[in-house]
Amino acid sequence: MCGIIGITSSKPVSSAIINSLRKLEYRGYDSAGLATLSEGIINEVKSEGRVENLEKNIAIKNMQGSVGIGHVRWATHGIPNTINAHPHSSNNVSIVHNGIIENSTILKKFLISKGHKFKSQTDTEVIVHLITEYLKENDLKNSIIKMLNQLHGSFALGIIFKDQPDLIVGARRGSPLAVGYGPNENYLGSDSYALKSMTNKISYLNDGEFCILKKNLVEFFNEKGAKVNKKVLELSSSEQDYDKGDFKHFMAKEIEEQPTTLKNCIKEYIDNINNDINIYNFPWDLKKISSITLIGCGTAYHSCLMAKYWFEELTSLDVTIDIASEFRYRKNRFKKDNLYVFVSQSGETADTYAALDLCNKNNMKTCSVVNVIESSIARDANFVLPIHCGPEIGVASTKAFLGQMLVLYIFSLKLSVLNKDLDKKTYVNKIKDLKNLPKLVEETLLTESKIQTISSTFTDAKGSMFLGRGFSYPIALEGALKLKELAYVHAEGYPAGEMKHGPLALIEDGMPVVVLAPRDNYYQKTISNMQEVIARGAKVLLITNKSKDEVMSENIWQTIEVESANDDLLPFLLTVPLQKLAYYSALKKGYDIDKPRNLAKSVTVE
Ligand code: G6P
Repeated sequence: MCGIIGITSSKPVSSAIINSLRKLEYRGYDSAGLATLSEGIINEVKSEGRVENLEKNIAIKNMQGSVGIGHVRWATHGIPNTINAHPHSSNNVSIVHNGIIENSTILKKFLISKGHKFKSQTDTEVIVHLITEYLKENDLKNSIIKMLNQLHGSFALGIIFKDQPDLIVGARRGSPLAVGYGPNENYLGSDSYALKSMTNKISYLNDGEFCILKKNLVEFFNEKGAKVNKKVLELSSSEQDYDKGDFKHFMAKEIEEQPTTLKNCIKEYIDNINNDINIYNFPWDLKKISSITLIGCGTAYHSCLMAKYWFEELTSLDVTIDIASEFRYRKNRFKKDNLYVFVSQSGETADTYAALDLCNKNNMKTCSVVNVIESSIARDANFVLPIHCGPEIGVASTKAFLGQMLVLYIFSLKLSVLNKDLDKKTYVNKIKDLKNLPKLVEETLLTESKIQTISSTFTDAKGSMFLGRGFSYPIALEGALKLKELAYVHAEGYPAGEMKHGPLALIEDGMPVVVLAPRDNYYQKTISNMQEVIARGAKVLLITNKSKDEVMSENIWQTIEVESANDDLLPFLLTVPLQKLAYYSALKKGYDIDKPRNLAKSVTVE
């Protein structure tokens, strides 16, 4: 994680850097810093905490300079304090870094033996001294090549030099890095979002490449120093997408946007006239795929788990799922006819990217389900299925989760009809139902006021459980994750039928337990499991769907009814109240909902 920015211009850059850092805060927000070069002197300001603290310090210092770099940090090496905040500087250079230098201890020893003195506990500082060391006997370009050769691990770097008045070097291995082109100025950034207010013309560095930016020049090189030509891409989505409008938090906006984002995505994939699914230019014969592996992290992993249920229900394909950080180190037996699907909102998650890279290197068929279509995972997969939900800024994923589930559901439907696992009539009916999903989500969003009241119980709880069976189990996991990450309440998602094998021991008087029991095939079984927890004192919040039949159970503390739909679609609807439950529980505690403690949105470290 961490976010980096660099600007070389003919006018002062510090306020533009601050603006971009604000946009990069989703990548890390425990400290921030900025360095500019003015009349041959590198000025550096760093602050603990948020970018707003840094901004105050910069105003006091009246920072000048028309070339500069900035950083927001998510600490890996060294606690989040001012000394460990980036940039890190020597007399000659100043550096911002996103990633981890795995051989920093060995490099540090070598540099200390050469007389270098270290100030921080970070791995990044070795880069500063390494380049300073090489600059003693090499020109700038060769020093960069030598320095990059020595580094193990992942990095995106921005570097300024005391004796290079308008120059920034950028370099990337593992962590993402974009270059933006402006009038009489150029930019470097961890993502296009950070550059968006300045330009919509972007290029991306590939792994191992570095670049040299001046205000009127951009050059790209491979790791050996040979020049590389780059395409300039034009970004499309508008600046307003990044604004929270009248909402208090991005998360609130992103939850409310879901009917629209689902509608947009359905429009991209569904042929309204023929009630069919369009997946164009798929590079292989879809009928020849015999098995699927779905891989992701966090919320994206939960959408993989959800998809496994749909694929198994609708198709005869073998489906396995994996957490990316596990998959990448396991002894994999790659299968030729298997499709490897990588699910990621950001498209930059390091573990998911590494798993994709591993599959690519073994010549496997790879496909990604992503939100950010310019991302590394989107670019490097053989085929991309975008979720079309627009920028998601809140760290806790909401609309992207629904978007990922939607695309995976659409994909499973398409494969089911192609493989003749589903007859045409059922297929068409399911597509018709799907078209109604945005409306059902919109109506389910109206459960708002009831959840606000219920959420106080969760706010004050020592712990809580989220239970579901079948299609509702992945949603239980996601509901628990949302409560943990936003309200910092211990929450465990569990298969309802598994409680009796241990976790039932945790239930005590008054413990809040969410039971997801829509009227699907699992309904009766889940209701029995619910009664088992009620009998042991749990305060049960039952989430089910509207029905003319009453729920046959006593002592339910609270019930929320989502709209009714065919069984496949109920997971979407069950998710909505859980998102709101986590949101209001965190709101009551006054926590920073869009930036929960210790977390970041785009996790570009292992
Ligand atoms: C982080 C975010 C989560 C997200 C996960 C995977 O942990 O805080 O919200 O689910 O990364 O991110 P991705 O961008 O790959 O979906």
